[in-house]
Amino acid sequence: MDDDINLESVYASFVSLQKDIPFLEEFKGFYFSEQENIGSDISSFNKPSYATRKDHSADKLKISAFFDEGALSETVTKEVFSPEVVRRDFPILNQKVNGRQLIWFDNAATTQKPQAVIDEIARFYANDNSNIHRAAHTLAERSTDAYEGARNKVREFIHASSADEIIFVRGTTEGINLITQTYGRKYIRQGDEIIVSTLDHHANIVPWQQLAKEKDAKLLAIPVDGKGDVIMEEYERLLSPRTKVVSIGHVNNTFGTVSPVKTMIDRAKQYNARVVIDGAQSVAHTKVDVQSLGCDFFVFSGHKIYAPNGIGVVYGKKELLDILPPWQGGGNMIKDVTLEETQFNAAPARFEAGTPNVADAVGLGVALDYVRKVGLENIEKYEHELTEYARSRLSEISGLHIIGHPKERISVISFILDGIPTVKAGQLLNKEGIAVRAGHHCAQPSLRRFGLEATIRPSFSFYNTKAEVDSLVAAILTVQANYKDFYI
Ligand code: ALA
Repeated sequence: MDDDINLESVYASFVSLQKDIPFLEEFKGFYFSEQENIGSDISSFNKPSYATRKDHSADKLKISAFFDEGALSETVTKEVFSPEVVRRDFPILNQKVNGRQLIWFDNAATTQKPQAVIDEIARFYANDNSNIHRAAHTLAERSTDAYEGARNKVREFIHASSADEIIFVRGTTEGINLITQTYGRKYIRQGDEIIVSTLDHHANIVPWQQLAKEKDAKLLAIPVDGKGDVIMEEYERLLSPRTKVVSIGHVNNTFGTVSPVKTMIDRAKQYNARVVIDGAQSVAHTKVDVQSLGCDFFVFSGHKIYAPNGIGVVYGKKELLDILPPWQGGGNMIKDVTLEETQFNAAPARFEAGTPNVADAVGLGVALDYVRKVGLENIEKYEHELTEYARSRLSEISGLHIIGHPKERISVISFILDGIPTVKAGQLLNKEGIAVRAGHHCAQPSLRRFGLEATIRPSFSFYNTKAEVDSLVAAILTVQANYKDFYI
């Protein structure tokens, strides 16, 4: 590269050229890199003074601008998605387990944390830690701003209309319990019906079951077909004026089934039922817009979206939260207390009694920033490709049976192996450095629909690679080959 080049003026020329070229919209925010020896794929535009070169071969997409006489002025670089690049952000992945490179295929149970999240937790405790909303000092101000800033990041991420619609809880399980203990306690009466799905996680079954028992209401479950999809005709049949709540998982954690939640919400609304969406398995993998979904509540856990454990979110429509009673009582959720009477704060404070998990909420905010930076569109596209690759490679293995073939699937595959107990298979894969979940996945009704008590479940993230899938396939073949010799 010519050392005399004036980057600022080149940048200015490039920006002025860029104005007339809609294609380049996507390169906003680019920066100048060192000039690199880029590849071919030259595409010319109708401007004689302008052409671009793109090179997808490395981790970055490089675009080069030529001016006037065709002299290469400078290369601008915009990073594009690459699993090999993003996985470097996750220090835990860089280790050996049982002498083998760790392969983390247990992402539906929990995701690993990028360095940015780990650093932010340390930074918060090293610099800003304070209780919030309760003091006039600097650290309280910083902590409060960080906590409320995180609330606003969640609002943006799921497109809620106000930060007051975002309640911080420990996770999805606590979130659904909050809904059953506030909305459920106040509005569910004897004979009312609550609909869940056979695909649901225990976290979306047990709290409703407890409430139904307490209220003498009825819990109904939407049946599932042989492919692992909810049967929509049966759902329609269950809906009636008695339906008060429909509470369903967006993405199932055993087969990865994506349920048609938008249609299901619209149908429930025809009966004025309230709708709760359990987004624990969806929010890290696909774009969620609570306003366009039209659900009343949406719940998810931070730890399944690259954030710390012990932090999660309940989104609730403002007009609904405003009429719900508080859940737990204590500090922060009150406006005024006498020994006889308490006036409660408005939402969300009304539902956040006591000192909240400030640091992990802040960590959640950073995790959401990270996911936005990687790009949910990139994540969705890549994970789909990776899951399809895994599905096709696994289905080549004789003696391996994939359970569930849903119409639409996200990032999860369940299978069983002839003659090898699932938990034993999980242990043997662990010997090869591969972490998968083996068991009932806290979703027994979904497995029992297929006559099973357990499956082996690899689940994928954007930091996993096809090479890791190949290693899983090789490890399964090894387990099958050796099982009889060693374990029978
Ligand atoms: N719900 C988590 C899972 O599916 C724990 O593994």
